[in-house]
Amino acid sequence: MEAANLTLVARLRLLPPQQQTKSYAWTESCKIAASGRSASIAGSSGFDLRGRFRRQQTRELLLGSCDVRGVEERRQRQRRRGGAVNVSAMDAAQPFYHESTRSQELDKNRKLKVGIVGFGNFGQFLAERILQQGHKVLAHSRRDYTDKARKIGVTYFRDADDFCEEHPEVVLLCTSIMSTEAVLHSLPLQRLKRNTLFVDVLSVKEFPKNLFLKVLPPEFDVLCTHPMFGPESGKGSWAGLPFVYDKVRISNGRRSRSADRFLDIFASEGCRMVEMSCVEHDRFAAGSQFITHTVGRVLGKLGLQSTPINTKGYETLLGLVQNTSGDSFELYYGLFMYNANATEELQRLEVAFDSTKKQLFGQLHNVLRKQLFNGEVATKNNPSQGFKGSSSNNGSKQLETPYKGGLGIVSNIDSLSHLFDVDIKKSIKLDKDHTSQSQRI
Ligand SMILES: NC(=O)c1ccc[n+]([C@@H]2O[C@H](COP(=O)([O-])OP(=O)(O)OC[C@H]3O[C@@H](n4cnc5c(N)ncnc54)[C@H](OP(=O)(O)O)[C@@H]3O)[C@@H](O)[C@H]2O)c1
Repeated sequence: MEAANLTLVARLRLLPPQQQTKSYAWTESCKIAASGRSASIAGSSGFDLRGRFRRQQTRELLLGSCDVRGVEERRQRQRRRGGAVNVSAMDAAQPFYHESTRSQELDKNRKLKVGIVGFGNFGQFLAERILQQGHKVLAHSRRDYTDKARKIGVTYFRDADDFCEEHPEVVLLCTSIMSTEAVLHSLPLQRLKRNTLFVDVLSVKEFPKNLFLKVLPPEFDVLCTHPMFGPESGKGSWAGLPFVYDKVRISNGRRSRSADRFLDIFASEGCRMVEMSCVEHDRFAAGSQFITHTVGRVLGKLGLQSTPINTKGYETLLGLVQNTSGDSFELYYGLFMYNANATEELQRLEVAFDSTKKQLFGQLHNVLRKQLFNGEVATKNNPSQGFKGSSSNNGSKQLETPYKGGLGIVSNIDSLSHLFDVDIKKSIKLDKDHTSQSQRI
């Protein structure tokens, strides 16, 4: 029989002595059925133990049945008084085990009171899902969201004192990265209960961790999280979407259960729960999330349009623009400012872009140099001297240089130089000088 579902059936036949003067005599058998979810005690005469003594009676009967020595003593006492005790079945969990399992289960099922601070784009998005799971949600933000909140079933507080006096078990910070410090300092923390759990969802993690540890009183628990999805990418199911968390400071016992219940909101939606230190998160996020946002923003500035001949790759790019364009610039700026690794990633991206450009221009450069050294440079006046393709030293075909409206390579170089801020002609001249110098030597 599984421990959680242990069923205890104890039949205690108590035959009270004639001389017993109590108003209720137990001359019937009592059946005790106790399982992980329910416990009932009923006497066969319809005597039903309920109310305030029920718990005490259960404990007494359980103890009586589990403690063999106790049962034996009872039996002897009954015999002395002329009664008898028969224990016909005994298969029980220890009462302390049963009680703790039961209270853990009750705790797990109990609903949380979550107070969201920062009721913007992401705060509202999370609130809806938390509500769907039956938890109570309160909110407080800089702007007035009373109407919006009412529509989705959230109790909104304009005043931070009122919000804190509601004693949310979890305070969930959904503010912009940039404003988090100011917002945290503005909260009347003294109005909250000592066992409040503080959670953040900021897209950077080391910063809120250090801030929480610095600002929050030691009695408050701290859980740093980052749902790796947003209102756009998580508008359907959350199944398989990564949810990163770091249990920065969680006390043992009942308080740890608030953290577990909060995490369970995401786990039960099917998120891929990833426990990771804040430092590690920021290292990974700079190379993935920050780059994604940067490329999305750059492409957004290009104004990409859907075409009748979209490739799958192009569709992905359009999707990326769509995914990132909904996020505020403040969010993006926060990813840059508050992640120590972001600057390095931006530089790496720049170097990679330059190197790709150089690779392209390197091709063009080789072709042009060959033409220059062979005296075949195309001019505006004589575009026919331009080249559509030429053979390299090893006989392979070189880059096919595009003609543009008959203007030839010169005008093309001008426009390319202008676009990419690269002075190709100057660089070719430098190259030529260098070559002739070395020939002289
Ligand atoms: N969007 C996402 O996909 C996503 C995903 C994961 C994590 N996150 C994180 O979730 C948090 C919220 O993101 P978001 O998308 O809602 O956009 P956001 O622009 O980063 O933050 C907007 C929220 O910050 C508050 N806020 C901004 N400036 C403030 C100030 N000076 N004082 C007080 N409050 C201020 C706004 O309050 P008011 O509306 O009252 O002005 C609003 O609630 C961010 O930390 C972000 O990193 C976002």
